[in-house]
Amino acid sequence: MWYQNVLKPALFRLNPELAHDLAYSAGRILSNYDGACDLVSRITQSCESKKGVELWGLHFPNRVGLAAGFDKNGHLPPIVAALGFGFTEIGSITAMASDGNPKPRMFRLPGDKALVNRMGLNNDGARVICDRLVAQTRFKIPLGINIAKTHNPAIMGDRAVEDYSIAFREAVRVANYITVNISCPNTEEGKTFEEPDTLNTLLKALSQEPRDRGCRRVPVLVKLSADLSEGALIELLAVCEKFSIDGYVAVNTSSSRAYLHNSSDSEVASIGRGGLSGAPLLQRACTTIERIKSFTDGKKPVIGVGGITCIEDAITMRKAGADLIQIYTGLVYNGPMFASNLARALD
Ligand SMILES: Cc1cc2nc3c(=O)[nH]c(=O)nc-3n(C[C@H](O)[C@H](O)[C@H](O)COP(=O)(O)O)c2cc1C
Repeated sequence: MWYQNVLKPALFRLNPELAHDLAYSAGRILSNYDGACDLVSRITQSCESKKGVELWGLHFPNRVGLAAGFDKNGHLPPIVAALGFGFTEIGSITAMASDGNPKPRMFRLPGDKALVNRMGLNNDGARVICDRLVAQTRFKIPLGINIAKTHNPAIMGDRAVEDYSIAFREAVRVANYITVNISCPNTEEGKTFEEPDTLNTLLKALSQEPRDRGCRRVPVLVKLSADLSEGALIELLAVCEKFSIDGYVAVNTSSSRAYLHNSSDSEVASIGRGGLSGAPLLQRACTTIERIKSFTDGKKPVIGVGGITCIEDAITMRKAGADLIQIYTGLVYNGPMFASNLARALD
């Protein structure tokens, strides 16, 4: 209640990116102190579900994860675990550091419980972020690392493949799983690997990269767009399956505004381009998850993400076939207790 009545109204008066940066800074400070994280963990009563969930040889304390984009620079794993998340996905990280697109680049559409962003893959760069993560001692929850191509339209073709490979090599050092993000809608060059031939080239190159750490092989997932037609999705899945991809993350943000119902045309037009997230994505996400499950005969695990803003949404996504779920926009609208509430409900 304190979030809905006090903190959220205050944060929602601020520019959305500033509000995010303040929350991020608070999380970063808390992450530095074990005592603070223990206290938060006691308040949220972070949920180790009865048996936990085993996937890819990893133990997930519960099914609710933090989606990529919130902790782009890898400062937050301790507080994310204390807030009751069962796993976290860092990134997207890219081979080279990037400031992203000019501001403003994050917008709220409260009537639709949605956000639009065109951050443009701002991050500290793969080497710095992975060194930072390696230096953190022990993670209480599995750590995914989401890799993308450096946001620079001059990096294309073979250079783009090598760029992904650099980020991949860094991620292998510390990730429990790696997500290959081919679906970011916010770069000048567009989604250059969301096409069967180019995806084939990329996955072939990544399949030749060593990915054993100790006695474990790091699982590799592919993150797909919300905007793929059924035919296009099937074509991409066929390529992924050829390279024995270990699972999928569905979905990334959408360039379409067709799913908005409660935001005015002028409000939407004033924002301009960017990826839509939040409640309007749920149906698209569930349809995509069902199609992936059907194509892979239910054999490949899917992390469902997109539009979970209440417990019923999480149950709907589980029914669509999601083995694990992730949240981002729902956290903004519901506050820091949201993950532990979802985890308990799904338990
Ligand atoms: C501000 C913002 C930044 C994001 N950045 C990334 C990113 O860097 N990489 C990525 O794979 N997804 C990114 N996403 C997409 C989310 O991981 C997620 O797929 C999407 O927001 C749908 O989930 P939601 O409706 O729970 O927010 C971002 C989303 C938002 C709102």
